[in-house]
Amino acid sequence: MRQFTEDNLTDEVVARLKATKDKRLREIMTAAVKHLHAFAREAKLTEEEWFEGIKFLTAVGQKCDGKRQEFILLSDVLGLSMMIVALNHKTAPGATEATVLGPFFAHGAKEYGYGADLREGATMKGEDVWVSGRILSTDGKPIPNATLDIWQAKADGIYDLQTDGEFELRGRVKANDKGEYAFASYKPNFYSIPMDGPVGDLIRATSNRHMRPAHMHAIVSAPGYQQVITHVFVHGDKHLDGDAVFAVKDSLVGKYKKVNDAEFAKKHGLPNPFLRLDWDFKLSADKGVKARKKIAASDAVA
Ligand code: BEZ
Ligand code: FE
Repeated sequence: MRQFTEDNLTDEVVARLKATKDKRLREIMTAAVKHLHAFAREAKLTEEEWFEGIKFLTAVGQKCDGKRQEFILLSDVLGLSMMIVALNHKTAPGATEATVLGPFFAHGAKEYGYGADLREGATMKGEDVWVSGRILSTDGKPIPNATLDIWQAKADGIYDLQTDGEFELRGRVKANDKGEYAFASYKPNFYSIPMDGPVGDLIRATSNRHMRPAHMHAIVSAPGYQQVITHVFVHGDKHLDGDAVFAVKDSLVGKYKKVNDAEFAKKHGLPNPFLRLDWDFKLSADKGVKARKKIAASDAVA
């Protein structure tokens, strides 16, 4: 067939995909072509605008390296990452809700046991906090020996991965056989997503939000349970209603309480008074609910 027009081109491109052996790839490509063509029509895209789009996507790719993932950032600020999480992570009622992974997860963080000090080696101080709680099943039973991958920005809102330094404020914390975990860290601060690349240019051009409310990230994994990739946000943060990446859920907002306990502080290397976050994570059983693919050691997300 030849003589393609705006009326028959979409059908012809879709027809040529029919030979795709992988059924799922065929479904995805068919939907992508249909929606891309519909997008061009709806926006009445000019050639100059289309070429600007190509230049933008090229710049996004060129900004990526082993430490910077501008495509994940783009997906996050377009709400696409949270849409994919919502579609794929239907947890059992009561389970800790899932959020975006974000671009700053890294493999190879140091392993710690109960009572770890994640402030170890920190280049910047913050407000000292004791974070502790339990890993529970949705029916409230403790899950022994879970692992919590924890990461957060430094007090200046910059992640260790954004500098040339060592890992900082991140670790793989092992819960004990009673399902309890605890570690010392600093209270997270709000921060801006990276604005020095093409995604930042887009945010400025669209007068969009670029702040993230204060949070720590956690990936909680335990055999027999769905892994959850989540955040714990800080109650009272002024950016909770304007998160640049749409990840805030009411169930994920935690209170940091001031505690005056000189003996406890001394035992755990904290100043007195100090802050305390008590936070339980609840995991869905692996069976019966469609699970999010687990983050594995081989995943190359920098
Ligand atoms: C983060 O929380 O680390 C993050 C998530 C999405 C975009 C930028 C940063
Ligand atoms: Fe973050």
